[in-house]
Amino acid sequence: MVLEFDPAFIQAPEHRPKPAVAEVGSIPLVDLSPLHLLEQHGGPLVAGLEVLVAQVEAACRDWGFFQVINHGVPLAVVERAWAASRGFFALPPEERRRVRRDEVNPLGYYEAENTKNVRDWKEVFDFVVHEPAVIPSPGDAGGGVDRLIELRNQWPQLPHGFREALVEYAHATEELAFTLLELISLTLSLPPKRLHGFFKDQTSFIRLNHYPPCPSPHLALGVGRHKDSGALTILAQDDVGGLDVRRRSDGEWVRVKPIPNSFIINVGDIVQVWSNDKYESAEHRVSVNSERERFSIPFFFNPAHYVMVKPLAELVDEKNPANYEEFNWGEFFKTRKNSNFKKLDVENIQIYHFKKAK
Ligand code: OGA
Ligand code: NI
Repeated sequence: MVLEFDPAFIQAPEHRPKPAVAEVGSIPLVDLSPLHLLEQHGGPLVAGLEVLVAQVEAACRDWGFFQVINHGVPLAVVERAWAASRGFFALPPEERRRVRRDEVNPLGYYEAENTKNVRDWKEVFDFVVHEPAVIPSPGDAGGGVDRLIELRNQWPQLPHGFREALVEYAHATEELAFTLLELISLTLSLPPKRLHGFFKDQTSFIRLNHYPPCPSPHLALGVGRHKDSGALTILAQDDVGGLDVRRRSDGEWVRVKPIPNSFIINVGDIVQVWSNDKYESAEHRVSVNSERERFSIPFFFNPAHYVMVKPLAELVDEKNPANYEEFNWGEFFKTRKNSNFKKLDVENIQIYHFKKAK
């Protein structure tokens, strides 16, 4: 066993999962097949596209979360990624630790992550989608001029074919990420490629999550409540279930039902800021259980470190002033990561810290 239950995992009483989480009224389901028809026939399937854009707009506005089917990522590619992940987490602990992340390289295997200063009941493997990924040096305190570092992946020798399967998965899901970005641009009445430039030197990464069965699932969480800080997340989950989303309308936690061959999409803090609060990055968490281990694979679609994030100029005017001060993505990401890595006494950085006083 890699994880031994101890007090570091215990959530404050108000954050502990209730035994029953609502499964009704779950997040919207969006069928992306109109997009592929568009490609095959060279368009213009305008009516189908309009319906799709309206669905995505409503989902982003009401939930910040939705599931997609007919997304164009081949099933075989996804299955090879699952096999790679299961194979890796089935290796002996000492084998996994050969690629453990440390103060120098934050990529690779890790089993001691905190969310809001409470330990998560999980182990992960992180890799970046484009190498090298350039980010401000995590060790620097900030304030001064940042040193930049180049992140490179640490690939394990075992299981065989691990790297190939995940590189292939990264390519396929990155394509989906750009497609979703186009759809989101359209929902904001912007040209489809309006946001693409921010991802030129992207800092996107993929995480393999493994949540072992937990002896005290009523006290701990697989991932504590949080919002994803990047632009978009594309998540594959297995059939166990455990992802809970905070419903915008009433603040209830709602369990996301696993749907075969689907992805869960959520908008992150950056889309919240770009859209000037039209869309909200929804809070979510992972509940664990005492019987079945669970696997998930999020793709965190993040812009270049040098991108200054602020409400898009087209969406603000005198009547709708910008709700946020601009901030630098690399700095924000670094500060967030530092707080996950170490147990800190201070509150970790959140997007509302950039909210303008009204
Ligand atoms: C995350 C996350 C959800 C899941 O890793 O940020 O929210 O279902 N994961 O694993
Ligand atoms: Ni998340």
